[in-house]
Amino acid sequence: MKTACVILAAGLGKRMRSGLVKVLHPVCGEPMLTYPVELALRRGFDPVVVVVGHQAEAVRAFLEARFGKRVCSVVQDPPRGTGHAVAQAAPLLRRHRGKLAILYGDVPLLSRRELDALARAGRKSAVAFLTARLDDPSGYGRVIRGAGGDVIRIVEHADATPEQRRIREINTGVYLLDARFTFAALERLRRGNAQGEYYLTDLIEAARRSGRRVQGVEVREVEGSLGVNDRVELSRVDQLMNARLVRRLQESGVTVIDPANTYLGPRVRVGRDSVLLPGCVLRGEVRIGRGCRIGPGAVIRDAVIQDGAEIRAYSVLEECRVGRKALVGPFSRLRPAAVLEAESHVGNFVEVKKSRIGRGSKANHLSYLGDATIGAGVNVGAGTITCNYDGVHKYPTVIEDGVFIGSDTQLVAPVRVGKGAVIGAGTTVTTDVPAGSLAISRVHQRHVRGYGKRRRRRHRSAS
Ligand code: UD1
Ligand code: CA
Repeated sequence: MKTACVILAAGLGKRMRSGLVKVLHPVCGEPMLTYPVELALRRGFDPVVVVVGHQAEAVRAFLEARFGKRVCSVVQDPPRGTGHAVAQAAPLLRRHRGKLAILYGDVPLLSRRELDALARAGRKSAVAFLTARLDDPSGYGRVIRGAGGDVIRIVEHADATPEQRRIREINTGVYLLDARFTFAALERLRRGNAQGEYYLTDLIEAARRSGRRVQGVEVREVEGSLGVNDRVELSRVDQLMNARLVRRLQESGVTVIDPANTYLGPRVRVGRDSVLLPGCVLRGEVRIGRGCRIGPGAVIRDAVIQDGAEIRAYSVLEECRVGRKALVGPFSRLRPAAVLEAESHVGNFVEVKKSRIGRGSKANHLSYLGDATIGAGVNVGAGTITCNYDGVHKYPTVIEDGVFIGSDTQLVAPVRVGKGAVIGAGTTVTTDVPAGSLAISRVHQRHVRGYGKRRRRRHRSAS
């Protein structure tokens, strides 16, 4: 029988002091809600229901864009506590027989390992939940156990006596519940507590009253249950997540020179024997092949980089593709829909947008290539500019195989340079160039004899 999952994400996140709802704040470049949802899907939970409330529209839009129909959401408005939040999923899950997992949208480090431990221990319980022993348990619900070690109940910090506040075992907020029991018990929750909320934790006493089993499962590593409540915790969780992502790459055969100074996202894949030099920021859907060398300081988002390619220092790449053994940078900028074919070179201060650069072609210095299709074996001289924009429309430039473009050339689009043509340095190309011919447009050079001497004399007499 499948386990259903409810992820609580309706809270405001007051302590973030932000205009953005907490669960959309990024951790390693992705909204933190991504992580529990991914975990639930990977674990095979079905259905996965997210309870949204604060900025519900923004959270729903994100879920829809990222997960489509694999995740559904329900609105809790206004938020009246964790028990009330889970109850909002009742219309979707009331008929569910079997287990119900509860996760939080602001606990991104939780992993499969903890869920597996919970599933093993909670098989025969109506309520099983993960606990942790903290040096500083303040703020959390404390786990009250009886003489035999059985969990009697959870007492929220706000409701706890000074003596109970000394208990270091806390409720992490991750549960595996019997679904049928849960929805029946939620209907009977009362909010006679310090915060006037419906507490999900009250399910424990409800279970005990009806003679059902309750299990508190202590995790050894507390990292997985760290929640994000403020920006200090946000940076801490971000660093821990990043360290995990770096480690995963290292274990798969990637050299990462400086883990603390390499910033990865969870959708970054890197092939073995590739090297990440310090200061790289890799975000979004990035696929890097084998034997690549990246950085230092490369910023890459949503890109495919094939085997043996090299992205040198301080290059910025987004939504682009770099072919095998291609060479990019230092200081290159590849913008959306830039495609570099195998063994091509794009060098310093070259910007490429929505252009294809053919096999073995080179644009090594100071160029702008936009809306261009460049064939194989082309040499693009320093300072070449495709003038693709007239202020209203964008126009294409086509440069066929084997063309040689001299330095400081402007190609006024739309324009085509035929196969094997040569463009003289300093030319402004305004009409198509036939294959194999030389195009040159230069003002004829004159010499004014004796000018230098006259100029110096003029300056001297002026001062
Ligand atoms: C809750 C637990 C507490 C536990 C702690 C762990 C209860 C009553 N208490 O504390 O025992 O130690 O988590 O972090 O359950 N949320 C909603 N709707 C609401 C209230 C909360 O969706 O009405 C969401 C929040 O967005 C958050 C999560 O539930 O993701 C936990 O809420 P939070 O207020 O942080 O937890 P506490 O109630 O303080
Ligand atoms: Ca919290």
